[in-house]
Amino acid sequence: MKPGKLTLSDLAEMKSRGHKIVMVTAYDAPGARLAEEAGIDILLVGDTAGMVVLGHDSTVPVTMDEMLFLTRTVVRAVDRPIVVGDMPFGSYNVSDEDAVRNAVRFVKEGGADVVKLEGAGPSLSRATAIVAAGIPVMGHVGLTPQTETMLGGFKTQGRTAAKARRLLSDALALEAAGCFSIVLEAVPTPVAARITEALTVPTIGIGAGAECDGQVLVYHDLLGLTEGRAPRFVKRYANLAEEIRHALGTYASEVRDGTYPAQEHTYAMPEDELELFSADGVEQAHRER
Ligand code: KIV
Repeated sequence: MKPGKLTLSDLAEMKSRGHKIVMVTAYDAPGARLAEEAGIDILLVGDTAGMVVLGHDSTVPVTMDEMLFLTRTVVRAVDRPIVVGDMPFGSYNVSDEDAVRNAVRFVKEGGADVVKLEGAGPSLSRATAIVAAGIPVMGHVGLTPQTETMLGGFKTQGRTAAKARRLLSDALALEAAGCFSIVLEAVPTPVAARITEALTVPTIGIGAGAECDGQVLVYHDLLGLTEGRAPRFVKRYANLAEEIRHALGTYASEVRDGTYPAQEHTYAMPEDELELFSADGVEQAHRER
């Protein structure tokens, strides 16, 4: 473990002291470094990479190899935050053995500290098996994007008493399976509050209200790198898409009108060398070919 690394006991203590846990997604070294400098506690190398980095329209196509590549870049950049490798669709759905094999890859090849998987049901035995192999697991219930078709689309979950009870029992079952923390996505605030109270492990909310033990947002959403309609829970803390578009546009027009590069962006050479070069530079270069 890197010196200064936050531990899972630190997270548990944060819950018991009522100190909020801050998590954000990260997919590359510069973003991870900035997040660490901003004091973020947990970096999730999320399979949302499929949508915000790799250009897919869902998280489903993301592969283990893509996730491992991204995880390594994040791990190399940071010391303190806990790095979570998000197990992509297909990497844990078939069997416990597959789940353990791929979780081990996240730790050995990706350098992740822990892994995250979605759902309860079959994911319970996957979580138990991965924890038994010595790898901590973060659960994820509510809206689980990898199986959104089964859930009827990107919709709030747990809006009836029966469904809310189901969510609570799934969360309790994931805790019993050994999960050290559970993400609650797109869940009504009172349901997330009830789950948070019932669990001994910390909950991390995304669209689940302020009573969760922590919050997570997608990096590109919170920085305004994704544009257009966003889920209700997204708060844009910056408008980087606009800034980047403006900067790139200015660069393009300055190249075209010759403003860039200016004197201060160029390299000079000693006058005498320049004179020699100007006198016989081309002829000499032809001879030396
Ligand atoms: O992949 C991801 O970014 C996630 C968060 C939305 C929790 O799972």
